[in-house]
Amino acid sequence: MEKLALKYEGKAKKVYETDEKDYFWVAYKDDATAFNGEKKGQIADKGEVNNQLSALFFAEIEKAGIPTHFVRLLGQRDMLVRRLEMVPLEVVVRNIVAGSLSKRLGVEEGFVLSQPVVELYYKDDALGDPMVNESHVAAMGWAKLEVAREIQTWGLKINEILRNILVKAGIDLIDFKLEFGISNGQLFLGDEISPDTCRYWDIKTREKLDKDRFRRDLGQVEEAYQEVFRRVKEVLASV
Ligand code: C5P
Repeated sequence: MEKLALKYEGKAKKVYETDEKDYFWVAYKDDATAFNGEKKGQIADKGEVNNQLSALFFAEIEKAGIPTHFVRLLGQRDMLVRRLEMVPLEVVVRNIVAGSLSKRLGVEEGFVLSQPVVELYYKDDALGDPMVNESHVAAMGWAKLEVAREIQTWGLKINEILRNILVKAGIDLIDFKLEFGISNGQLFLGDEISPDTCRYWDIKTREKLDKDRFRRDLGQVEEAYQEVFRRVKEVLASV
């Protein structure tokens, strides 16, 4: 597989064309941003953790019957993915109140929701990714109604798959964000699943093991990313 022209550079990844037109080479970066790009920094070896941890999660999700864009690892911080036409939405699933939901509802972080919550956000940096519902999605033509519904159903199923793994690693999955895309009329999970895109709390100590350590200047950021990766690898190696 050959890495060709840079197609797109995002905040955390670079995407390259390859010699196969239906596949992209994704290179994960150590760059970290928060608050819609206002805060910038680097997290040492984040690219390696996010690439390899995402690969582990994608493989488990695929095993459970949800198609993902992940094809195979190409290196420590590189993976081969299927080229998707991205749906311009972010799907957030929450089990425990934190972050923007805590602010929006005035509910303390840590409040345990009686069932998972699914939210849709329209991807637009200039607007700060506003929350929308499926009728906005269909009416604006961002995706078909059935796609908007399917990605929420898949989000909930992925929540169960991830929680199942993480609980064995002593980690509570607080919330996470997913992105989806379409290839040849078929829906696939895209993007990444990592400490950049999820909130993980240690079940016993309630210590944060995710990007909130960077967002909130809590220190020990690299160590938290490495710790999640180490624990998940260990759980998946033992099954
Ligand atoms: O900020 P908020 O509380 O809405 O984030 C919910 C979850 O989605 C968090 O795990 C956060 O890391 C993730 N997220 C993300 N990218 C965004 C917005 C949220 O990965 N643009």
